[in-house]
Amino acid sequence: MTRHFLNLSDAGGDALATMIGDAIDRKAARKSLPKGQADADAPLAGHTLAMIFEKNSTRTRVSFDMAIRQLGGTSLILDGSTSQLGRGETVADTARVLSRMCDMIMIRTDDHAKIEEMARHATVPVINGLTDLSHPCQIAADLLTVVEHGLALPGSQWAWLGDGNNVLHSIIEAAGLFKFDVRIAVPEGYEPDHAFIQEARALGAGITLTRDPVAAVSGVDAVVTDTWISMGQAHADEKLKAMMPYQVSVDLMAKAKPGAKFLHCLPAHRGEEVVPEVIDGPQSLIWDEAENRIHAQKSVLLWAAGRLG
Ligand code: CP
Ligand code: NVA
Repeated sequence: MTRHFLNLSDAGGDALATMIGDAIDRKAARKSLPKGQADADAPLAGHTLAMIFEKNSTRTRVSFDMAIRQLGGTSLILDGSTSQLGRGETVADTARVLSRMCDMIMIRTDDHAKIEEMARHATVPVINGLTDLSHPCQIAADLLTVVEHGLALPGSQWAWLGDGNNVLHSIIEAAGLFKFDVRIAVPEGYEPDHAFIQEARALGAGITLTRDPVAAVSGVDAVVTDTWISMGQAHADEKLKAMMPYQVSVDLMAKAKPGAKFLHCLPAHRGEEVVPEVIDGPQSLIWDEAENRIHAQKSVLLWAAGRLG
């Protein structure tokens, strides 16, 4: 069966744990190699990854490109606006054509229904490079990052402050798969999708919703936030005002466990969702998170190709 990676649950907790372990091993094994050189075993030699971007990207674009190179394969990029998708060719037909020409498809788009449609019609793996609903590749990298920094996922305590967005949905999903807790502090009207919460709770995660940022961060192992205005959303002063009490400040960070980690998928807006002292401070893991997009994406590609998990 074709393995699509539209959400973390498509792989499941056991495969994700294997993927994190493999990413750690591969990262260590190639430490002194130039970044563009393939891993010694080049497991995806001859494979081509087609990447479609209907939204901007720096990390996802570069990390998938470097990831497939390091696995011995190659990539090509289709810009949403200059490919025929931008002139109305259907997602289904695009999926059929790319499946005949390439070995895997990664797509960043807006409506999650589009990637589901692509997966229905593709005969090669389809990978979610971000939709309005979720960002599983980012959270694969975040899980790798906190594990590398010594956090045991089961039973750990995370806090999310700010907007209830796509990145949060994938964290909630991860919490269900790895049995950790997420305390979510968001202003009224910006709550995450309840379906993700229900599913994670059913799997044993402790997911709590609060309006109180102090209650959310007190004693946690990791504090996470993201931009208040995601791609495709209008810049709204009203939203920024509602978000301000949820800014990750020095005082709020000090209420987390001593040595707690700060995570942000980037790009960041210093002075909005987080102050510079925190995001550029000693507890911040943002540069490891960014680098780990490569290592995590390699494990996603290997899983999708049926080589892992
Ligand atoms: N974090 C992330 O997905 O970054 P890009 O938007 O630059 O890909
Ligand atoms: N929530 C952000 C994540 C960017 C990587 C967005 O969707 O724009």
